[in-house]
Amino acid sequence: MRLFYWALFKGRLRRRNGQKKRLVYRICLTVMRYKAIVAMSYNRVIGKDNAIPWRISEDLKFFKKLTMGHILVMGRKTYDSVGVLPGRSTIVVSRSKTKSEILASVEVVDNLEKLTALIPNDGRNVFICGGAEIYNQTLDLCSEIYLTTVKQIVEGDAFFPVFSDSFKLVEEIENNERFMIQRFNKE
Ligand SMILES: NC(=O)c1ccc[n+]([C@@H]2O[C@H](COP(=O)([O-])OP(=O)(O)OC[C@H]3O[C@@H](n4cnc5c(N)ncnc54)[C@H](OP(=O)(O)O)[C@@H]3O)[C@@H](O)[C@H]2O)c1
Repeated sequence: MRLFYWALFKGRLRRRNGQKKRLVYRICLTVMRYKAIVAMSYNRVIGKDNAIPWRISEDLKFFKKLTMGHILVMGRKTYDSVGVLPGRSTIVVSRSKTKSEILASVEVVDNLEKLTALIPNDGRNVFICGGAEIYNQTLDLCSEIYLTTVKQIVEGDAFFPVFSDSFKLVEEIENNERFMIQRFNKE
């Protein structure tokens, strides 16, 4: 996959015309900027009754620091739970709600294929931040996963999918008695 991106960047792939070249370039850049960020328990629980069933302030601070100034993509149910997070742009994925039904300051897409077109090519990262339905449909688009593992078995109704082994562990950011934070990169 990296070689593919590299070839695109270096212009070594043949393209039929300039328009197509720009489109492929833009899609490629955008896909590379998708990063998933999630906290799950040992048994892959991420939520219960539309809330996160633990509160770890250090992890929330990590989330805030990493995502500040960037773009968050979340499913409508997660948006209902967390709302707008200051200092970040929010894109909500929903088939049932429109922008005017949510908030003027939030973008809404009714189809994940429309996501790329909505994302400005301004160097900001795009953080896929849940919930389960959205992770399930977008993990393949991500180049990185920031995974917090909460060292507990927790009861819940929303789960993080098992991700492909093309994601390799590249960094252990934190590891203590209660939780660990790891970064995985797609090969
Ligand atoms: N631990 C963590 O890191 C973390 C992070 C985020 C969320 N969570 C938890 O995850 C749970 C929520 O996850 P969830 O799976 O129930 O809901 P979700 O993924 O947040 O949202 C699901 C909604 O997204 C919309 N949607 C999904 N796929 C779509 C598509 N292809 N096109 C258009 N709209 C689409 C639909 O909205 P409409 O119904 O409006 O059409 C759907 O009902 C909560 O418990 C939350 O607390 C945990």
